[in-house]
Amino acid sequence: MSDKAYAPYLDEILIDSETLQKRIRELGQAVSVDYADTKDLLLICVLKGGVMFLTDLMRHIDVPHSIDFLAISSYGTGARVSSGRVRIDMDLRQDIAGKHILIVEDIIDSGHTLNYILNMLATREPASVRICALLSKPSRREVDIPIDYIGFEIPDKFVFGYGLDLDERFRNLPFVGVAKPNVQFED
Ligand code: IMP
Ligand code: MG
Repeated sequence: MSDKAYAPYLDEILIDSETLQKRIRELGQAVSVDYADTKDLLLICVLKGGVMFLTDLMRHIDVPHSIDFLAISSYGTGARVSSGRVRIDMDLRQDIAGKHILIVEDIIDSGHTLNYILNMLATREPASVRICALLSKPSRREVDIPIDYIGFEIPDKFVFGYGLDLDERFRNLPFVGVAKPNVQFED
């Protein structure tokens, strides 16, 4: 029973574990080729959703790199709607000047979160900034974001699992699932 606590909220599995892992391996290999001669590669994981993706992705990156974390939240709207208002909950622990940055993000929806992060990082004068997003919903985009590495383009559906939450739960699932429409959440 408890191991299927997500079942009432799951409409369908969109990307199963095997498909995710295969694609993440490909992304890691592509990153390894592109950064083969790069010193000072820093992966910046956007918490919390990106954490499972980061830990799987970095296992397939065979160039030396370090990691750091940023926590960001959108505010002023309900849980399923992203607003243009973004806030930093936790900043990086280090100076990124002169470093090559790869942002590791779970999903790009409207693009406001990444747009905010890109603008903020640009003021700190990194050597370069690229984006690696596991998921993208192109039909939802409000701000154009250059994504260098994309795992999967998905339709305009609310998804959870593999780092993404449904009211802070189910980030641990090994697959990406579509949430049933009109599920009511208790706060
Ligand atoms: P954006 O600012 O609209 O691009 O939204 C990005 C953030 O919204 C992501 O980092 C997620 O935290 C959250 N988000 C957007 N779509 C979904 C979804 O389908 N499931 C879970 N979180 C989502
Ligand atoms: Mg979220």
